[in-house]
Amino acid sequence: MIADPLADLPARVTIVEVGPRDGLQNEPTPLALEDRLELVRRLAAAGLRRIEAGAFVSPRWVPQMAASDELFRRLAGLEELAGVRLSALVPNARGLARAVEVGVGEIAVFGAASDAFSRRNINASIEDSLARFRELVAAAREMGLRVRGYVSCIAGCPYEGEVPLRRVVEVASALHAMGCEEVSLGDTIGVGTPRRIVQVVRACADHLPLEALALHLHDTYGQALANVLAGLECGIRIFDAAVGGLGGCPYAPGASGNLATEDLVYMLEGCGIATGVDLEALVATAHWISRRLHHPPAGRVARARAAACRG
Ligand code: HMG
Ligand code: MG
Repeated sequence: MIADPLADLPARVTIVEVGPRDGLQNEPTPLALEDRLELVRRLAAAGLRRIEAGAFVSPRWVPQMAASDELFRRLAGLEELAGVRLSALVPNARGLARAVEVGVGEIAVFGAASDAFSRRNINASIEDSLARFRELVAAAREMGLRVRGYVSCIAGCPYEGEVPLRRVVEVASALHAMGCEEVSLGDTIGVGTPRRIVQVVRACADHLPLEALALHLHDTYGQALANVLAGLECGIRIFDAAVGGLGGCPYAPGASGNLATEDLVYMLEGCGIATGVDLEALVATAHWISRRLHHPPAGRVARARAAACRG
């Protein structure tokens, strides 16, 4: 008999739910605050323990994330969310001040391995953005906040095309060195295949601890689950995903949704890897948010279970 190729998979992984941020930031019509709040509550009730709930970015740039202040203020008052790590994107000092004002305990700065994408997304070169983040991360850490860092375009850029592996490693290392305890490697436009993911993870793991790395996969080319498996085999234990497969980035044309959280949970649990997430509750949430947004869920599991969730 051949050796079990899946023998070394872990017993458990961590999922970072990014639907309320990465998902909703790309919706043509901003979702009402009540519904944003309800989405976070439902995700927490389904068992997700890390949720990126909003972004303190410029409302001129991303109107969908305006009012994240009020959202976090209201979330802070909910006892049912005790034990859930809520986080938010922060691009600059103004964003950090807003986050601190409403008691956010965890922020994420977001850089890119492509200069063109960085300029379009945050109006700064890679170099300038890292200099800005260095101050920001130091200030946040001093105040006791947890800080995550994103590297976008790890497998390709919507403007530049190919992105050198070396650039990904440089940005990931810089974010970690400045105090980001976790670095999430983002395939922003979902073009990577398992070979590229393995190359990126191995190259990054030469410079920063494997436990500090997460994968953030968009599913544009249908590669996300295969890429998760490649990541797992390399030792990655933290994966980002968005309920219903929502999402994209307003500054990454052609990028479709994130890997759907329910697809990720289905595959992991099916492989005997615990996620702590109740798949039925999550699928019901995928259908609920899809109805609020007036489009069907992009994820396969939610579509497969559609009949069970009607009504
Ligand atoms: P800028 O235009 O260079 O900055 O934008 P500015 O300082 O000139 O500010 C422009 C206006 O925004 C001003 O208002 C500021 O006051 C205001 P005005 O005077 O014109 O009325 N402003 C703010 N307001 C509220 N909160 C703030 C803030 N900052 C400025 N924090 C900036 C620079 C970084 C602000 C802008 O480019 C921005 O907000 N970009 C965010 C873009 C974004 O959110 N993209 C999506 C998230 S990244 C992503 O999705 C990728 C990821 O998922 C990983 C992956 O998939 O790879 C993370
Ligand atoms: Mg993303």
